[in-house]
Amino acid sequence: MSTTYATIAGLPTYVGQSVTVRGWCAHLRSSGKIAFIVMRDGTGLLQCVLVKNQLAPEVWERFASLTLETSVSVTGEVRAEPRAPGGYEMGVTGLTVLGASPLDYPIQPKEHGIDFLLDHRHLWLRSPRQVALMKVRHEIINAIHEFYGNRGFIHVDTPILTAAIGERSGLFSTEYFEEGNAYLAQTGQLYGEAAAAALGRIYTFGPTFRAEKSKTRRHLTEFWMMEPEMAFYDLNDSLQLQEDMLVHIVQRVLATRAAELKELERDTAPLEKIKGPFPRIDYGDAVKTLQGKGSAITWGDDLGAEDETLLVADYETPIFVCNYPKEAKAFYMKENPADPRTVLCADCLAPEGYGEIIGGSQREDDHDKLLARIHEEGLPVDAYGWYLDLRKYGTFVHSGFGLGLERTVAWVAGTPHIRECIAFPRMMHRLRP
Ligand code: 4AD
Ligand code: MG
Repeated sequence: MSTTYATIAGLPTYVGQSVTVRGWCAHLRSSGKIAFIVMRDGTGLLQCVLVKNQLAPEVWERFASLTLETSVSVTGEVRAEPRAPGGYEMGVTGLTVLGASPLDYPIQPKEHGIDFLLDHRHLWLRSPRQVALMKVRHEIINAIHEFYGNRGFIHVDTPILTAAIGERSGLFSTEYFEEGNAYLAQTGQLYGEAAAAALGRIYTFGPTFRAEKSKTRRHLTEFWMMEPEMAFYDLNDSLQLQEDMLVHIVQRVLATRAAELKELERDTAPLEKIKGPFPRIDYGDAVKTLQGKGSAITWGDDLGAEDETLLVADYETPIFVCNYPKEAKAFYMKENPADPRTVLCADCLAPEGYGEIIGGSQREDDHDKLLARIHEEGLPVDAYGWYLDLRKYGTFVHSGFGLGLERTVAWVAGTPHIRECIAFPRMMHRLRP
């Protein structure tokens, strides 16, 4: 008889049949006559029931050799059991040990310090909370591809090794043959702009790197960013797209990942309230509001993390803070015709104090103004020759933005620190495992 293998999530279709499930032991208990293995396989949890007087003696004895995280193959009949995790259980007839696990498994059901957990990230990842976070992350990524796919955007991959640079914060560099230094991309945007002139509406989605010496709960040195770039969109068109995208992401996670949000103890009531329109606040007004709330911010400063928290406290949806002073933002942002001290840009701040999740702008499409900004910023004009070409050959109104994936996961999952929102975080003091 051939073996029927099933995943735990796939068990409902096998009720009344005998199948084999492979996974790891998450909990073990025995009364001497009846024993339970709670097994996990990544798709769910399964309670396996072993009854001594119904089993071959060697199978019963094998149970005694099991430890936490032993990998096993278990065979038996699937039955509905509302009290069991997942709603099904297995009446075990066969048990095979695939890989033993010594008793010193480092992650135990007790409080571990965060450094210990991060040092054991390769094992910590197996715990229910971390599994839930990875699934929420996966869902958000899929929601993003679905959103842009439905709108006819083309996904373009941009280089990670670059000669030109994008944002102001620190660069990682590496030797690049005879070409001097290559820099790890801080953004795909500039390439995205070139692609938008070829394809109209595009998005990039990839890892980006910042050698920032920040040790905050919002900064990684390697993070994933999704950056759409839209030909013939002005800033307002771009804000509408951001709003629609965030609503779509939240709706999809609520609809498909209720179990994971529960595991994460995420209060979903604030997520249910994420509907447009999102308030659009002028930077100047934001500064006045913040000063009224006791912030030391003055016109010209970027908003600090505390300012962001103060500002969003009045709202239940994400908000856009628009038209920052030129000095506070990157060289490629378009000058605001209504107030040339400022640029046509917006940061999107998540509610509940999760801070900036999106930075975006309308791009400077005037060749000479862009060149002047490159000079003003002291940037190497040579490296930006190709970028200026986009303004030389058929310049076009265009806008785009960057959504930080881990910050979005942190917000949606209700996780205070983004280090748990990526499988293997890279931070200033962490390169391993
Ligand atoms: O605001 P930023 O720096 O914007 C850009 O990079 C633009 N080139 C985007 C564009 O217009 N195409 O970064 C965008 C987002 C931030 O809002 C934040 O969510 C995330 O990327 N981000 C980080 N996430 C984790 N760790 C860091 N060190 C981050 N820096 C930015
Ligand atoms: Mg920003």
